[in-house]
Amino acid sequence: MSVRAIVLAAGKGTRMKSARPKVLHELCGRPMLWYVLRALGDAGVSEVTVVTSAELAPHLSGIGASAGYASVSAVLQEPQLGTGHAVLTALAQLAPAEGTIVVLNGDMPLVDGELVRAALAPGDRALALVTARMPLPSAFGRVVRAGNLVTRIVEARDATDEELLIDEMNAGLYVYDEPKLRAAIAEVGNDNAQAEYYLTDTIGKLTARGERIVPVVADDYRSVLGVNDRVELADAAALINRRLCEHHMRAGVTIADPATTYLEPDLTFGADVTILPNTTIGRRSRVGAHSEIGPNSRLQNATIGEHVIVADSVVVDSSIGDFAYVGPWAHIRAGSAIGTGARIGNFVEVKHAKLAAGVKAGHLTYLGDATLGERTNVGAGTITCNFDGTEKHETTIGADVFIGSNSSLVAPVTLGDGSVTGAGAVVIRDVPPGERVVGNPARPLPKKIS
Ligand code: UD1
Ligand code: MG
Repeated sequence: MSVRAIVLAAGKGTRMKSARPKVLHELCGRPMLWYVLRALGDAGVSEVTVVTSAELAPHLSGIGASAGYASVSAVLQEPQLGTGHAVLTALAQLAPAEGTIVVLNGDMPLVDGELVRAALAPGDRALALVTARMPLPSAFGRVVRAGNLVTRIVEARDATDEELLIDEMNAGLYVYDEPKLRAAIAEVGNDNAQAEYYLTDTIGKLTARGERIVPVVADDYRSVLGVNDRVELADAAALINRRLCEHHMRAGVTIADPATTYLEPDLTFGADVTILPNTTIGRRSRVGAHSEIGPNSRLQNATIGEHVIVADSVVVDSSIGDFAYVGPWAHIRAGSAIGTGARIGNFVEVKHAKLAAGVKAGHLTYLGDATLGERTNVGAGTITCNFDGTEKHETTIGADVFIGSNSSLVAPVTLGDGSVTGAGAVVIRDVPPGERVVGNPARPLPKKIS
């Protein structure tokens, strides 16, 4: 049976004090809304309607696709008159159906599929209301109960001092019987502190109709924390990051300091990977077994082989072969492939370059738009001069080449296998295999020097 959900994401997010819609703010490399959609997907919800503002609408399909939805429907709510009004707007666009419908706040990125599934468990009720007991005073709506059933929700702003003492909060995740939701929401007014149409008023309306509202109490209140300002955003990001670190540690990754290790969802680590402090790993990076990343490193969309060391370095949109050593202080930029056992480090920048197995570039070098053959050694201070002021050009270097320190290789240029450049050579013409060149501009060494 297909399950439908409405996600509430049109709110202005006034408390964020931001030009950006609240649910687009990122935690651990993903927009807030991504987490909510991922949780729904994990719970098997197949059809999602997002209540959106005009600013959010253009971003929806991209976030949906990245969270695993081929399509999400959008319903524009303009103006935004409250969560009840948001649901009413969505229901007006959806063909009425029998059965259950999930309603979920878009600002609860810590929610997971398990909790959504718990709320979806079949039962004799008009509404399964997810709640959580919270140790702290909070701005959440208070859940008023009569025994095992819920009778109404009172928003913190509208609550009496006595009601504020209630420690059971409304999470913002609801599984309604759809026809009963339609009937109740039609009766909701806006006579409250914010003059808004509250979704939470449907609970009192359902009670008045004699309907059963069953609470589903979350095991851990942290999984339902809402994000309303940037302090809560940082708190939620820290919790998500901790969750990601724990997941990988349990799967066999050593993380020396989870508090300064910043991960994103959808990373892949082999066995016995070690991550050292102050390290950020994101954009679907993959790290092979026995590799060590960090300290002070950043991987973005990086594919790292096995037994690799990346220390104090940055690798973006690139791959690093097995047994390679990168760092300290290397910057491997987009489109680079570093071969097996290569050594790159001490202030070396590599951009859009293929370095074959065993290449060494150990000091103060720029290799851009270049190909280097096996075992080639790049001396300190070598620069591929790839830009002539208008266009980029390629440098092709063969195998077993020895580039002397401080060489400038003016592209386009090719250096054949086994060739050598002397220190300070400015190479402006191709060098045949085995040839030795020196000087500015570089010329072949005389065969015999008397
Ligand atoms: C809401 C609940 C509160 C609950 C808390 C949990 C209501 C009235 N209150 O309060 O009981 O404890 O969530 O986090 O529902 N939105 C729209 N259109 C609107 C207004 C809001 O789509 O017109 C969306 C927002 O983008 C947001 C969600 O609904 O994602 C919740 O709105 P928010 O203003 O954050 O409600 P809370 O005050 O947090
Ligand atoms: Mg909120």
